[in-house]
Amino acid sequence: MKGVILAGGLGTRLYPLTYTTNKHLLPIFDKPMIFYPISTLVQAGIKEILVIVSGPHAGHFIGVLKNGKELGVEHLEFAYQEKPDGGIADALLLAEDFADNSEICVILGDNTTDAKIKDSIDSFRDGSLLFFKKIEDPESLRRFGVAVFDKDNKLIKIEEKPKNPQSQLVATGLYVYDNKVFEYIRKCSPSWRKEIEITDVNNHYIAKGKANWINLSGFWSDTGTFETLFLANSYWAKKHENR
Ligand code: TTP
Repeated sequence: MKGVILAGGLGTRLYPLTYTTNKHLLPIFDKPMIFYPISTLVQAGIKEILVIVSGPHAGHFIGVLKNGKELGVEHLEFAYQEKPDGGIADALLLAEDFADNSEICVILGDNTTDAKIKDSIDSFRDGSLLFFKKIEDPESLRRFGVAVFDKDNKLIKIEEKPKNPQSQLVATGLYVYDNKVFEYIRKCSPSWRKEIEITDVNNHYIAKGKANWINLSGFWSDTGTFETLFLANSYWAKKHENR
C-alpha cells in the first residue's frame, strides 16, 4: 500500500504562526508536525509516500524532509495543490497518478496519533476503512465529521460539522481507500464552503456498502487550532518524559 499525506491548506486558524511557515512544519514538541503522520505510515510498513503541499510556504517542505530517508521513507514524492483551500478531497485527486491503481492510506498532515495501524492496513482488501474516535465535548464534536448510525448500529452516513451531532464518534483524518476513491471524488460538488469535502467521498463509500470503520486506539488529535496544537504538544512532551 502507498501513503498520501495532505499538507495543503492555508492554516488560517493559526495566524500569525502560519504567516512564517506552513502549518505542518510547526513544532510538536521536538519535531515538525509532519514527522508524526510520516511516522504513523512508516510504522505501518508504508514507505512510498506522496506529500501534497500548497500555499505560500510550499517550498519549505523540501528543506525539512529532503528525500525522506532519515525518516525511513524509501520513496518520497511531492505534489502541489494549485488552489490551497480547495478542500481535502480536491488535494487527494492529485494522488491519482502516484496511486497507480493501488490502495492508499491517506492521513491529514495536521493529525498526530500514537495508534498502531499496521494490522488494519495489512488486512485491508477493498472499499474503504475509516478510523473513528470518541469525542465527548459537544463543542469540539461540531468541528468534525460525525458518524450517524441506524437503530441496528449500522453506519449510515457522516455529517460534516453538524449542529446536533447524532453520535460521539468523529471521523479522524486517517482513511484507507481502494482505487475507486478518485472516481468518487470526481462525483462530488463543492460544498457551501466551496471545498470538495472528504466527508462526501466517505458517504459515497457508505452508500455503496463499502465502508468499514474501527475505533482508533490511543491518542489522536488534530492540531489545527491553538488549543489542539497546545494539547498535542503537551501530550508528546509528556510521552517523551515518560519514556
Ligand atoms: P483544515 O484544518 O480544514 O484547513 P487548513 O489546514 O487550511 O486550516 P484553516 O481551516 O485554519 O485555514 O485542513 C485539514 C488538513 O487537510 C490539513 O492538514 C491540510 C489539509 N488540506 C489540504 O491538503 N488541502 C486543502 O485544500 C485543505 C482545506 C486542507
